[in-house]
Amino acid sequence: MLILDGVSVEVAGKEILHDISMEVEPGKTHVLFGPNGTGKTTLLMTIMGFSGYKVTKGKIFYKGEDITKLPLYERARMGIGMSFQRPPTIRGLKTRQLVALCAKMKKDPEELARRLNFTEFLDRDVNSNLSGGEIKKSELLQLMAQNPDLVLLDEPESGVDLENIALVGEVIAELLDKAIKHFDEPMIEHKKKRKKSGIIITHTGFIMRYVKADVGHVILNGRLSCASNPEEIFACVGKFGYEECVRCMI
Ligand SMILES: Nc1ncnc2c1ncn2[C@@H]1O[C@H](COP(=O)(O)OP(=O)(O)O)[C@@H](O)[C@H]1O
Ligand SMILES: [Mg+2]
Repeated sequence: MLILDGVSVEVAGKEILHDISMEVEPGKTHVLFGPNGTGKTTLLMTIMGFSGYKVTKGKIFYKGEDITKLPLYERARMGIGMSFQRPPTIRGLKTRQLVALCAKMKKDPEELARRLNFTEFLDRDVNSNLSGGEIKKSELLQLMAQNPDLVLLDEPESGVDLENIALVGEVIAELLDKAIKHFDEPMIEHKKKRKKSGIIITHTGFIMRYVKADVGHVILNGRLSCASNPEEIFACVGKFGYEECVRCMI
């Protein structure tokens, strides 16, 4: 689904990511851990194709095609979608209109919003006067409408309260066509078998209670270390910290 081959990235004239290689197979979900300011968001923005994130070395392949030089909208058309850590407010554009556009007018925003208990916000300007958790729901709603094959999620659970975290977790599992993993309950398999992939940045690891991740990575100082069991990495980071966790790579 996605291959990064020795990718280095410069932002505002400074190299932020160094020689990143990773492969995300169809149907697999990866999680990225790492301290603040280490380059996690930069990695997702680069995969999505935002201008300002300059690939100075290496290549990005998606579904077998070299997309390193493709603009963002082409990547979105090919099925890459992203929810942002801190999306902007867009005055003059209603959430309902944006969701309809994301769905290419083929799905009813009202129906999609019902799944997220979000209907009351559809007629507000995008992200206008929303709480942190509501913004995360709005981002997910746009992704539900777009229904991408490669789902990039930048801290989707940050700011989401305890009451909503299970709902957000379930919707993410649906987006990824993953088995839903209710905390402390047995897994419920989804019927559909479309192969969708995901990369989720998580600070708290909370989302792993609801979405079964396949591979975990730590990004430290712009370098990607290890591709290992995400639960093990999370436990190790919690116990020893990031620096100590990546020591095994040296
Ligand atoms: N537009 C930008 N201009 C200058 N520096 C930036 C910009 N975007 C990100 N950075 C810097 O790149 C580093 C990585 O940022 P980021 O990818 O947002 O980290 P993370 O998501 O891991 O917290 C930080 O030091 C940040 O200040
Ligand atoms: Mg970030």
